[in-house]
Amino acid sequence: MRIVSIVGARPQIIKSAALIPKLKKISKVTTIHTGQHYDFEMSKLHYNTFNLSSPKYNLGVGSGSHSLQVGKIMMKLEKFLIKEEPDIVIVYGDTNSTLASAVTAAKLFLPIAHIEAGLRLERLLTPEEINRRSVDSITSLFFPPTRFAMENLISEGHIRNNYLCGDVMADILLNSIQKDHFSIINKVYGIEKKEYNLLTIHRPVNTNSLSGIRNILLELSKSEIPILFPIHPRTRIVIEKLSKTTFNKQIKIIDPVDYITFIHLEKFSKKIITDSGGVQKEAYIQGIPCITLMNWTCWPETVKEGMNTLVGTDISKLEEAINCWEPNNVRKNLFGDGRASINITNMIREFIENK
Ligand code: UD1
Ligand code: UDP
Repeated sequence: MRIVSIVGARPQIIKSAALIPKLKKISKVTTIHTGQHYDFEMSKLHYNTFNLSSPKYNLGVGSGSHSLQVGKIMMKLEKFLIKEEPDIVIVYGDTNSTLASAVTAAKLFLPIAHIEAGLRLERLLTPEEINRRSVDSITSLFFPPTRFAMENLISEGHIRNNYLCGDVMADILLNSIQKDHFSIINKVYGIEKKEYNLLTIHRPVNTNSLSGIRNILLELSKSEIPILFPIHPRTRIVIEKLSKTTFNKQIKIIDPVDYITFIHLEKFSKKIITDSGGVQKEAYIQGIPCITLMNWTCWPETVKEGMNTLVGTDISKLEEAINCWEPNNVRKNLFGDGRASINITNMIREFIENK
């Protein structure tokens, strides 16, 4: 068997780190990185964390407009897919790398397995929603992480090869939490358990307008406890344009951190404030109240269960969520039991054997 696995952005490396060791038990696996993310902290660091070998090919596409990125990936990827002749191509999530890789594979009539298939917003509100719907329209093997995602696919007519296997990010999270990690965090960042909030921001809706991010940081500067802010490179570019007086010392900006550090920063935080899809999910799994700086989410179950509140760009809602909102601490097992990668590997093997 020959499998090609394609990543490009930070969360995709993390998702692939859960799956690749399992896939390697049944098949030769060739890994390709599109180069969409290229900073050490957004790419190589995560290969190091998970002891993953470097990708066989790095397409080095870098940053650019969406069409440029998608076009460059397609042009560069085609020859490697032809050379590798995979039985199936695995793509993850909803980035431009996911879209470009899936279209390239489909044009070569290669079957596609989509990890995190079926997530939907009501409308085409984000670049990711365009990518998700497009990829699922040409996917052969669907791996929705949640019941909501599986049902979305069914309502679109994808009844065959649609397997609710759980979420690979839950697998890796559950396997990576370590006892006694707090002492390291305390030493490095000088913060106490449950006496800080954790912040991440990278969505265009929060970073495209200077006044938008300024308002968020001004509000967060009122915080009585420190706010740790591992900053995404997109956001750093915007923040550097702001006057230093925009936010006070409570907001501690640091470089993006390794996954193990980040999940422990999540675990010991009081609340998480984020616009990240993956971080919302990890907050739920770890039982940390999540304040989402978006008006929508692909994880509506986390809101319904009372562990996530959507404040969008409304600063008064943000203030209320930080100071008054109390989550419901009763949690369900929304993202599987940590066996998603094994389940997915079994389904992929069956699919290839019956092709
Ligand atoms: C991308 C995904 C988003 C995902 C996020 C994960 C798309 C459309 N967006 O958003 O779905 O949630 O990754 O983090 O695919 N930059 C650097 N160094 C890097 C990478 C990016 O400096 O290593 C800067 C560049 O200025 C670049 C900007 O960040 O233009 C945005 O990067 P890009 O990959 O286009 O989108 P993300 O915001 O990272
Ligand atoms: N993450 C990390 N270091 C950081 C911030 C996040 O390792 O400094 C991890 C986090 O644990 C999660 C993933 O990166 O698994 C989320 O990625 P991101 O927010 O960039 O993308 P999204 O999930 O929104 O697509």
